[in-house]
Amino acid sequence: MNAAELKAELTKKIEAANDLGQLDEVRVSALGKKGAITELMKGLGKMSPEDRKTEGAALNVMKDDIAAKLEDRQKTLKKAAMDEKLKSETLDITLEPRPARKGTIHPLTQTMDEMIAIFADMGFSIHDGPDIEDDFHNFTALNFPPKHPAREMQDTFFLPDAEGQDGDAAKRVLRTHTSTCQIRAMMELGAPLRKIVMGRVYRAEAMDTTHSAMFHQIEGMMIDTNTNMGHLKGIMKTFCEKFFGVEDLPVRFRPSFFPFTEPSAEVDIGCSKTRDAIKIGGGNDWLEIGGCGMVHPNVLKNVGIDPEKYQGFAFGMGLERMTMLKYGITDVRSFYDGDTRWNEYYGHDPINKPNLATGV
Ligand code: DAH
Repeated sequence: MNAAELKAELTKKIEAANDLGQLDEVRVSALGKKGAITELMKGLGKMSPEDRKTEGAALNVMKDDIAAKLEDRQKTLKKAAMDEKLKSETLDITLEPRPARKGTIHPLTQTMDEMIAIFADMGFSIHDGPDIEDDFHNFTALNFPPKHPAREMQDTFFLPDAEGQDGDAAKRVLRTHTSTCQIRAMMELGAPLRKIVMGRVYRAEAMDTTHSAMFHQIEGMMIDTNTNMGHLKGIMKTFCEKFFGVEDLPVRFRPSFFPFTEPSAEVDIGCSKTRDAIKIGGGNDWLEIGGCGMVHPNVLKNVGIDPEKYQGFAFGMGLERMTMLKYGITDVRSFYDGDTRWNEYYGHDPINKPNLATGV
C-alpha cells in the first residue's frame, strides 16, 4: 500500500471511529510501534538518499496530517462523550423543595411590639424590673398597709427570706403585678417621668381558660407637675383606639380601689356581645381591660418625690387578655403550649414590624 492509499484508508477509519476506544485503536494501527506509518518510515532506510529525501518529506507531511486528524476526532468524541454524560446526570433544580417552615412572631410578642409603638409615639419609654421582688416593691412602697386585706387581693407566691437583709427587703415574692416597676422607675429616675413596663407576673391561681399562674402585664406611668385624670383618660382612649384599630372607641372609667392610686378606676371599652362573638367598638356592652388612677401621694412620698410639686397617673393591663380580645383567642393556656400549629395560625409575619404609619 502506498502512502496516498494509506492516508485515504486511515482518514476513513478516523472518521468512522465512534468512540475514544475505537479511535485509539486507529491511532495505534497508524502511529504505534508496529503501525502502518511507522512501518513506512522504517522503509526509508533502504532507499537511495534522493528518494529518502522526497519520500521522507512526503511521509512526514502525511504523518502530521493523520496526527492532526486523530486529534480533531478525539476532541469531537470527547465533547460528545461529555455531552452524553451531562445529559444523563442533569439535576432538575426546578423541583419544589420541601416547604420551609416559616417562623412567626408569638401573639404576645406582637402585642408588646404594638404597645411599644403606640406608647413610644406618646413619649413613653421602657423601664424594667426583676420577676423576683421584695415585699417593699411589691406591697409596702405601693401603699399596701401591713397585714391589710389588700395584700390578700393578690394570691402571692412567697419565697424564702433573702439572707443578709432585714425587714421588707428580706421578704421575697414572685411579683404579683408590674406595679413594682412604678417604684423602681421613680426611685431610679425621679420626676418628671413617662414610662411603660411589660413583663411576667405570678399568682397562685388554678389554671383555666382565663386564668394562669403566670401571665404578663403592662404598667404605665406618667409623673409631672400638671398631670391630671383628663390626661390619663386621653392616653387610655388613644391607646385603645390605636391598639384595636377602632376610631371613636367608647372608653369609660368606673370607680374602683387600688391602694396605690387615688382616685382609682377600672377602664372599660364599648363593645357588642353576641352569643359567640365580641365586637369591639359601639354596641351597648362594656369590657373591662385594666385598672388605673392618680398615683397616691403616699406612693410618691415612699419614693422621695414631693407630692406637693408632682402628681401623676398609672395604669395596668393584662397582655394575654388584650391579645385574646384583639385576635379572638379563647384559651389563655394556649399561649404557653408551644404548639407550632397554634403559633403558625395566630403568629405574625416577622417582616411586618408594628408601626403607627400602617396601623398596628
Ligand atoms: N397592679 C394592678 C393589678 O395587678 C393593676 C393596676 C391598677 C395598675 C391600677 C396600675 C393602676 O398602675 O393604677 O391588678
